[in-house]
Amino acid sequence: MIEPEILLEFLRGRRSIRVYQAKPIKDMEIKMILEAGRWTPSASNRQPWEFIVIKNKEYLLKLAKCLSYGRFMKEVPVAIAIIAKIKTSPKWYLIDTSLVSMNMMLMAWSLGIGTCWIGAMNREKAKEILGLGANEHLLTLLPFGYIKGEIPEPTARKQLEKIVSYIE
Ligand SMILES: Cc1cc2nc3c(=O)[nH]c(=O)nc-3n(C[C@H](O)[C@H](O)[C@H](O)COP(=O)(O)O)c2cc1C
Repeated sequence: MIEPEILLEFLRGRRSIRVYQAKPIKDMEIKMILEAGRWTPSASNRQPWEFIVIKNKEYLLKLAKCLSYGRFMKEVPVAIAIIAKIKTSPKWYLIDTSLVSMNMMLMAWSLGIGTCWIGAMNREKAKEILGLGANEHLLTLLPFGYIKGEIPEPTARKQLEKIVSYIE
């Protein structure tokens, strides 16, 4: 178990990182990020996912062009595509793989590796580049790189009083 205060501080301290060092990420660290993904809970334990680790510069550049903004993908040493297998869990594939992405992001942060959830992209084009089929939904492409420069200031969060109600 982890000290609760330490975990909360860790969760509060995470940031989306969009500027990375070009330095390659150690294979052991990539493995840990993948392991964190593999151990994600899923509905009926169906694990409706596959991961593609992309280190090839040409592919990273092609994928960067699919992003609506944040062309930062072209600078990263590695990205992981999280693929949801639709038929494996037609009702829950989006939720299960979204949880995977969070596990991976937190693992990366603990290693001093920055990432950012990429939502805005031309998915069809990115799917084509990755050779994905109709049963495969490209949830996101997570870029991973050692953080370059200052860690960004925290983004705003709604106050608990605004988002919580109690039934006692
Ligand atoms: C579903 C989802 C989609 C997102 N899409 C993008 C994106 O396309 N490009 C980007 O730069 N950031 C994207 N983000 C990152 C958010 O902008 C970021 O998490 C939010 O502003 C809070 O900042 P923080 O992660 O530093 O706490 C996305 C985050 C989520 C959860």
